[in-house]
Amino acid sequence: MSKLYIAGIGPGSEDFVTPAARKVVKASEITIGSKRAVDLFPESREVVLLNVKDVQEKLEYGVDMVRGGKNVCILSTGDPGFSGVLSPVKRIIEEKGYEGIELEVVPGISSLQLCAARVEIPWDDADLMTFHGRENFQEILPILDNGRPTITLPSRSTADMANFLMDNGISPDRKVIVCERLSYPEEKVVEMALKEVAESEFTYMCVMVIY
Ligand SMILES: C[S@@+](CC[C@H](N)C(=O)[O-])C[C@H]1O[C@@H](n2cnc3c(N)ncnc32)[C@H](O)[C@@H]1O
Repeated sequence: MSKLYIAGIGPGSEDFVTPAARKVVKASEITIGSKRAVDLFPESREVVLLNVKDVQEKLEYGVDMVRGGKNVCILSTGDPGFSGVLSPVKRIIEEKGYEGIELEVVPGISSLQLCAARVEIPWDDADLMTFHGRENFQEILPILDNGRPTITLPSRSTADMANFLMDNGISPDRKVIVCERLSYPEEKVVEMALKEVAESEFTYMCVMVIY
């Protein structure tokens, strides 16, 4: 029976790609993922590139190909279960009525995990949140004063997130650590006040820790 694999690739560097992810890519006729994901797997056979505008269409294609008898691996940056492709793929399977499809999820090292390691926070002592692609910013406000650090994927940008927090009564002097492009050679881990984050430019590839 054909199988759908959803594999986490880790934060981006080859050092964090697991042998388990390589194994399922090798077992697949089709590999689907963003350019930075598929570039890590030269062993892929047929590659289908995911672009921001056609994610839904390409994920549906992958699921349909499994129904058509092929093994397919969908790559997710970090871990598929945290702001990754597991959730949209499960929704597609349900909407198409393909519940019997054989699915295997291969975990990856999340950008949040690597962030926690870099700043040396045991992540069972932190609150984990994601605002990636969401507008649910209000949800962070009640937890910011509970004495635990909050590790979060920002919304559109770190500056937007900082402005939102300051507009909602969080002190401009609040300590924040921004981890940018984790695991890449140009990785940056910087400690700043919230007001400085609002005035700084980072790429979209950031995790924030709010103390
Ligand atoms: C679609 S979410 C995917 C999260 C992923 N599933 C995970 O577990 O890390 C993409 C967001 O994850 C964060 N991210 C992914 N890779 C990163 C990296 N190497 N360094 C910093 N942040 C990263 C960024 O906030 C980026 O906008």
